[in-house]
Amino acid sequence: MDIPSYFLPTLILFFTFIFIYTLRRKTSSTTTCNLPPSPPWLPVIGNLHQVLGKDIHRTLWDLSQKYGPVMLLHLGTQPFLVISSTEMASQVLKTHDPDMCTRPISQGSKRLSFNYMDVAFSPHSDHWREMRKVLVSEFLGAKRSRMFKKVMEIEMESLVRSLSANTIVNLDDKLLHLVDDVVCKVALGKSYRDEMFNGKTTKEIVDETVVMLSGSFSDIFPTFGWILDKLSGWNRRLEKCFSDFDGFLQMVLDEHLDQNARKDSDHENDLVDDCISRLTADEMKGLLMNVLNGAIDTSAVTMVWAMSEIIKNPRIMQKLQNEIRSCVGRKSRVDESDITKMRYLKMVVKETLRLHPPPPFLITRECVSRCQIGGYDVFPGTKVMINSWAIGRDPRIWKENPTEFHPERFEEIQVDFGGKHFEMVPFGGGRRACPGYNSAVSTVEFTLANLLYLFDWETVKKGDLDMEEEGFQLIRRKTPLCLVPIKYNGQQQ
Ligand code: HEM
Repeated sequence: MDIPSYFLPTLILFFTFIFIYTLRRKTSSTTTCNLPPSPPWLPVIGNLHQVLGKDIHRTLWDLSQKYGPVMLLHLGTQPFLVISSTEMASQVLKTHDPDMCTRPISQGSKRLSFNYMDVAFSPHSDHWREMRKVLVSEFLGAKRSRMFKKVMEIEMESLVRSLSANTIVNLDDKLLHLVDDVVCKVALGKSYRDEMFNGKTTKEIVDETVVMLSGSFSDIFPTFGWILDKLSGWNRRLEKCFSDFDGFLQMVLDEHLDQNARKDSDHENDLVDDCISRLTADEMKGLLMNVLNGAIDTSAVTMVWAMSEIIKNPRIMQKLQNEIRSCVGRKSRVDESDITKMRYLKMVVKETLRLHPPPPFLITRECVSRCQIGGYDVFPGTKVMINSWAIGRDPRIWKENPTEFHPERFEEIQVDFGGKHFEMVPFGGGRRACPGYNSAVSTVEFTLANLLYLFDWETVKKGDLDMEEEGFQLIRRKTPLCLVPIKYNGQQQ
């Protein structure tokens, strides 16, 4: 392909403009206000070179040791405020919640939320409030929680049956299937796990939306990023992802519309049944996008980290199993009422979420009105990243061995996930806090209690369990957790 003669001069002119613009912004802003400290940044790319290709949560944690818990980074041409301590998280999520409660606009989130018809990516607005109410009452409310309980018991039973053979099991897969089946049955009426759509499994389609939601060039280079998105094929990939996802969800809606006429009186309504007539198709799809993206992998990953830490610490496993087995007595299964008595189990789940918050950062917010965080000025348009992974390890709060798994620390420290405590923020806080925290914690507790009541667990290889992390939006184990379950015979069969 011939490169046109004007290409090089245009490119040089373009980068010179960006260079001068960046320098001017740097000098003018620092002289007129008190900006948070920043690591040195380069023209055009800002601090991108310091974070790309690395574990961003660890890199930003390291940088915060030097520049403080309120840091200003430039990713491309965009300013990002990075929060890494409890105190500063409380200023953002509580004191300045109204100033920081919107979400940034991005090409990927706009498309995949059906033009912000969802809850999680929708800008702060009346529409967001309405959709959040629908999600809370229709998916997370009392009526649906009874359905959750019933479906969970059935799925748990089938998981337990599949584990009974004393052979090696990949718990990552098993737990993901468990949560996927439960959430899909409650939300969509059935599990779509084995169904193919456009040559992909429905899980592959949902996973691709997570990748596309992580952002593109135009999010950090608003003026010229679209060229890079086009040339790199990102736009095409987004369109393909959208069309697969939209097609899958449309099929679900069509199936419901089709079946609604024929449903008998025994049929228990799922989320789609209950909402399909009051929401538009795009609102329904936006809501389902949040449910499929927000409720499944997060809970499954938490269970896997909890099991990993428990297996790694035989003392903790023993203490936990003693508690569970004494609370359950000689029944064949754990039921929900037993769990309210299990204090140590609740501490183990909290400790898991402290050290392994599945998304290491809260969903990015955007500042809507000028305010001060930690005494520094923050301007509208600044994106706000809260490093939940770092906050859970803040040595000023978690004084004794903050990186060690030690559930007993919760005997002294009171935290809940309702958004009032900021010592750890696995579910965020303020008005954009995760609405699913209660349901998620119950699912995790119920699953762990059953797995540890019914089985003793051994690692495949003797020696220390590998705990390496992998991922950007969700942090998983790098290697799957493969264990051998040994049936416990103390309970009644
Ligand atoms: C262990 C499981 C879960 C974890 C760790 C988790 C974590 C989070 C986090 C960190 C946020 C961002 C909060 C913020 O920006 O302050 C969030 C938001 C959200 N989560 Fe969860 N979540 C979990 C389960 C669920 C479940 C079961 C649902 C149910 C559908 C759900 C739905 C949502 C929604 C809709 C939002 C956006 C809220 C808004 O912007 O108003 N999550 N979650």
